[in-house]
Parts: sequence; structure tokens; C-alpha cells
Amino acid sequence: MTTASTTRTRVVVVGGGPAGLLLSHLLHLAGIESVVLDHREHDEIATTHRAGILERDSVRLLVDSGASERVLTEGDRHGGIYLRFGGVSHHVDFEALVGASVWLYPQTAVFRDLHATRSAAAGDLRYGVSDVQVLDVAEPRVTYTGTDGRTHEVVAEVVVGADGSRSVCRPLVADRKQYLREYPFAWFGILAQAPRSAPELVYARSEKGFALISQRTPDVQRMYFQCDPGEDPTGWSDERIWEELQGRVAGVDDFGLQTGPVLERSVLPFRSFVQTPLRHDRLVLAGDAGHTVPPTGAKGLNLAMADVRVLAEELERFLLKGQADALETYTDRALARVWKAQHFSYWMTTMLHRSPDSEDFDEARQLGELESLVSSTAGSTYLAEGYTGWPTV
Ligand code: PHB
Repeated sequence: MTTASTTRTRVVVVGGGPAGLLLSHLLHLAGIESVVLDHREHDEIATTHRAGILERDSVRLLVDSGASERVLTEGDRHGGIYLRFGGVSHHVDFEALVGASVWLYPQTAVFRDLHATRSAAAGDLRYGVSDVQVLDVAEPRVTYTGTDGRTHEVVAEVVVGADGSRSVCRPLVADRKQYLREYPFAWFGILAQAPRSAPELVYARSEKGFALISQRTPDVQRMYFQCDPGEDPTGWSDERIWEELQGRVAGVDDFGLQTGPVLERSVLPFRSFVQTPLRHDRLVLAGDAGHTVPPTGAKGLNLAMADVRVLAEELERFLLKGQADALETYTDRALARVWKAQHFSYWMTTMLHRSPDSEDFDEARQLGELESLVSSTAGSTYLAEGYTGWPTV
């Protein structure tokens, strides 16, 4: 094999989504150079819709590191959510309960800001490459086929797998243990041209199943409803989608679902997954490459950002201070938060969704759980704390 080029750098990051770019940015601030590789094109990532809620500390990290100012000007601060059940909406006031808010700022916007920030600092970002292969994790070496059709090589001191739920880096962790929970449902997600239905997000539980009324801009909304995992979104007319959503938010109060043309429709995967450890030799995993949460509660991107914050610190210790144990502490530090978020996402999911085998007892118990949450400060504080994000340690 002849290599058209060999690049030497300190960290090679496989995956140029928000996690990979944020890591590259934080490393750059610490004076550590990196190369970012991704098989996708910039525009594909910039237009793939994912969740839209940032925890308080995710916003702080973007702002304080200079990665995004726009999150404050173009994002929308939300001080709470609505839990809707029994045909009535109940406001959970995060500000009053824990003194914190979240920000509605889509992942596509986070990606664009990070990409712009890295590009302005002349970051080495290589999109649209193919056949990325990690050849060695002790003396990291990654090869790929460039857009010129030739083989290129990147040699580094550490390789980071920030390459999402279909990670090529994940299987390289030897002696790994994997935890998996699958669910008998998925989410049908739409973008629709419509005004807002409520000032904040509405998480609705009904006998027909779950629905989430989220937002994007004053005239474009993001909504989801629980569906069968094998559902084919192309077979759904706009009318059928609105009928389904309407059935799940119907109630006895004056809540009115605002409808309009459906611009996009897709079915989202739904699983809980953790791999441990997150490191093998000089390879480390961050974000979805190491763990996945179901989308209820929007923890995915926030967890990836929390991983990256910890990882940037550990890499600084490892590469700049020569502390060999630095990479060893990464797994435990990152997974402490990951398991809290796993529980939180699982809990919100099971509290609000309808299982195909659910019986009368389960339905009534779910309502009891929701009622005890909204009628008690102790109950709603756990939701407020988890949703806005646990303090960073
Ligand atoms: C979204 O706006 O896409 C969104 C918001 C909250 C969630 C999941 C997705 O829990």
C-alpha cells in the first residue's frame, strides 16, 4: 500500500460531529493540535436533525470556550416543560425548583457554530473521506481514502473515537462489556411549518402513547410521537400524522395543537447502550460511540459534550503534563454522569410511553407516578435537576 501523505499530529479524532469538533476546539485552546476525520460531508451533518435541548452547563461550555455566542442570541431559554396527562398540562418550573434553565438550540446549529469556530482557527478538518481504519491503538495510526481517491495516513499520540453509534473505534476496545436495553417502540419525528403550540416543550402521555411537542423557530416546529420500531415514515400522509398527534394531546383544557405542512418525517432509533471501558491503550471513546440514550429528555448531545469536557482535561494532563494515569481515570469520570443520564432517560421514557403489552395496572400506575411528580416539590425537583443537567464535577 502506498500512502499519498502522512500527517503527524497529537490527537486524531475520528468523527467530525459536535463531539469531535468540540474536543478539537478545546484541545486547540490548550495548545494541542488535532486532525478530525469524518466519512460524512459537512452538509450532511449540518442538515441531519437531532435533539434540540442544551443543558445549562452545555451552554456555558459553548459560550465560555468561545465556541458559540449565537446560542445566547439565537437560542431560546426555557425555564421549564409541560407534562401533559389526563388531558391537562402541568407546568414543571425548573427555575423555581432548581434555579436553572435549558436552551432550545438545535444540534445542527451547535455543529455549524463549532465548525465555523474550528475553520476560523485553521483547524485540520477532513470531511467526505472513506474507509477510515484505526490500524494501531498503542502507537495510533489511522488511514483513510481521501476525496482524491488515494490512501492517506495520520499518526498521533492518541486516537479518539467520536464517531457515533455506528463507531468503527468501539470494537477496538478489548475486554469490553456492553449494556443494552431495547424498547418495543420508536419515535416518529416531524418538522412542520406551523406556529408554536405552547411557550415551552410539551411531553404528553396518553392512552394512545407518547407525544412530544417541541420547537425550532417561530414558524417551524419539531414534534414526535411514539410508533412501532418498524414503522415506514414514507407511508404517512400529513392528515394521518396530525390525526395521530392530535389524538395524543387531546384534552379537556384549551390546549390547541398548531398544524401545517409536514416538511420532513423520519423514524428515530430508540435504545439504551453503554460500553465500558471507554479506553483501550491510547484509544478513547466519546459520545454516542461509547453510549446511547433514548431521546426522551434530550440527553445525547449533552452527554457527549460532558464526555468531551472531561476528556479534554485528561488529554491535557496526559499530553502536556506527561501524567500517564490520565487516560485511566477518563472512563470512571465520564461514566458516572452517563449512568445518571441513562437512568434519567429510561425513567422519563417508561413514565411517558405505552408498552404494547401494558395492562390496566401499568396504565394506572403510570398516572399515579405522574400525579405524584407534579403534585410534589420533591417529585418534580428530580425531573428539574436531571433535565437541566447535574453539576459538572
Ligand atoms: C427536540 O427538540 O428535538 C427534542 C427536544 C426534547 C427531547 C427530545 C428531542 O426530549
